[in-house]
Amino acid sequence: MLAACADRYGPPDVVVVRDVPLPTPGPGQVLVRVAATPVTVADARIRGARFPKGFGHLPRLALGVRRPRATVLGGSYAGEVAAVGAGVVVHSAGDRVCGLTDGLGGAHAEYVLAAENGAVARIPDDVTDVDAAAMLFGGVTALWFLRDRGRVAPGMHVVVNGASGAVGTNAVQIAKYFGATVTAVCSGGNAALVRSLGADHVIDYARQPLAGSGGRYDVVLDAVGNLSIAEGTALLAPAGLLLLAVPTLAQLVVPRSRVVRGGAPERLADVQWLLQRAARGELRAVVDRTLPLADVVAAHRIVDGGHKRGNVVLTLPAGDGPGR
Ligand SMILES: NC(=O)c1ccc[n+]([C@@H]2O[C@H](COP(=O)([O-])OP(=O)(O)OC[C@H]3O[C@@H](n4cnc5c(N)ncnc54)[C@H](OP(=O)(O)O)[C@@H]3O)[C@@H](O)[C@H]2O)c1
Repeated sequence: MLAACADRYGPPDVVVVRDVPLPTPGPGQVLVRVAATPVTVADARIRGARFPKGFGHLPRLALGVRRPRATVLGGSYAGEVAAVGAGVVVHSAGDRVCGLTDGLGGAHAEYVLAAENGAVARIPDDVTDVDAAAMLFGGVTALWFLRDRGRVAPGMHVVVNGASGAVGTNAVQIAKYFGATVTAVCSGGNAALVRSLGADHVIDYARQPLAGSGGRYDVVLDAVGNLSIAEGTALLAPAGLLLLAVPTLAQLVVPRSRVVRGGAPERLADVQWLLQRAARGELRAVVDRTLPLADVVAAHRIVDGGHKRGNVVLTLPAGDGPGR
């Protein structure tokens, strides 16, 4: 099968599309023929070995010291079950599914292996493969930060820093879903986009930096990583919470009250939550553009630019099944 492989850390053009062995599903695994898979900031961070301030090369201990341990990147996908391993009962060949790979990567390929008991769910008929693939990375992140940690509820005022990206476009909609008033921070060119997602107020960061803007919010979600803890907590109303999606090492290890940081878990229930809302038209996947797998280097370049609108999604044509 064809796969986008990163054999070393480096700029976008280290990624090469080439033939690799087709994986075989073992017990409890499903083999998914990938139809759509986003290139995310996480993929670009791993490929470039670029991590938030203070981490240096530390993440390489987990990701691969000299080169990415998972040669094929890609943490989320949508497609069709091509084959199942022994003991699989929930999914069968032909099911449309989408999922997250629990940090193992492998989705930037014609086929990806998924654990049946992992975060892999049926895609509702009303949701396209591209939309399903696009919404998972930012969606599970925004849901965990805002619903589970921020406990966003009616009457609260939430500000989303980085509102037009993958995390932000989901965060704006999810905060609105839970009844909050939402202020979105992004470039002026994306003001109409975030308003269309439900933002009540928009701050163009080029005209008015969020830090020092004098606003008071119940929840501050920083999906950019440019707020210090002092700047973020100065924006909080009494009992407000600062949610850091991109903490520096220092922000991660020094405990602070009213500051939440960490990595969002990849849970089946959250994937299903997102898909159900998307099927009902309550949540919209924002897709900057789709590109064929062959253009994976261009996709990485766009993601590296730091200004994609929502998601950049690789698409793969329908194949003839494993073994072709
Ligand atoms: N903790 C976790 O579990 C977790 C999970 C997923 C992602 N993340 C992290 O979250 C971050 C965001 O990911 P993403 O996929 O949403 O990124 P993205 O799609 O690249 O979006 C970044 C957004 O930041 C905005 N932006 C750029 N410069 C800005 C500035 N100076 N002030 C305010 N906004 C600015 C951009 O808006 P404009 O284009 O309008 O300029 C863009 O929409 C990444 O660093 C990622 O690593 C963390």
